[in-house]
Amino acid sequence: MLKLIGFKKINISIFISGTGSNLKNLINHSFKKNSKFKVVLIISNNPKAKGLNYAKKFRIKKKIINYSNNKNAEKKILIELKKNKVNLICLAGFMKILSENFINNFKGRIINIHPSLLPKYKGLNTHQRAIKNKEKYSGCTVHYVNSKLDSGKIILQKKVRILKNDTFKSLSKKILKHEHVIYPKALKKVLFNL
Ligand code: GAR
Repeated sequence: MLKLIGFKKINISIFISGTGSNLKNLINHSFKKNSKFKVVLIISNNPKAKGLNYAKKFRIKKKIINYSNNKNAEKKILIELKKNKVNLICLAGFMKILSENFINNFKGRIINIHPSLLPKYKGLNTHQRAIKNKEKYSGCTVHYVNSKLDSGKIILQKKVRILKNDTFKSLSKKILKHEHVIYPKALKKVLFNL
């Protein structure tokens, strides 16, 4: 395991596929006075991901990875991570599944945010399924990534009430706000334990 030496910041890479609101939020946290991390690399499988604009805005390196072949894509990512001395990976709306081999290369050093109260509603369309099943609560979870989808050890979770008139849109908006609170908190916890 890594040890925090002196005041040296931990280099993190954030993987995205879309809007990047969690990315933006984590970058903003990295600029805070006592922050222990620095975002050194943004990875996206999607060249059209809106979140890529934050690379330019905050002058952070970005790499768009062609995912037509998973194995090659992961190989390229690993090279970039090494080149940029990345210690920890944060998945933030990254819609590709990482292989066991990739995860083993970063054992205990990949975390993800998922928009449900795991272990409930792993995978896609979490809000639609929670509403359809008339759940009273949903939420969001930050967890370590292991080789099973959305199944790694939970770091932090926030429960959110589903109201009768909640739609997919209103619920996802509500939960996203909580994601922006728990992701930096969970990251802080993880960095403390590195
Ligand atoms: C977030 O709600 C995140 O929890 C979810 O994608 C959204 C990304 O939003 N992630 C997953 O569904 C992963 N399985 P963002 O691009 O605005 O951060």
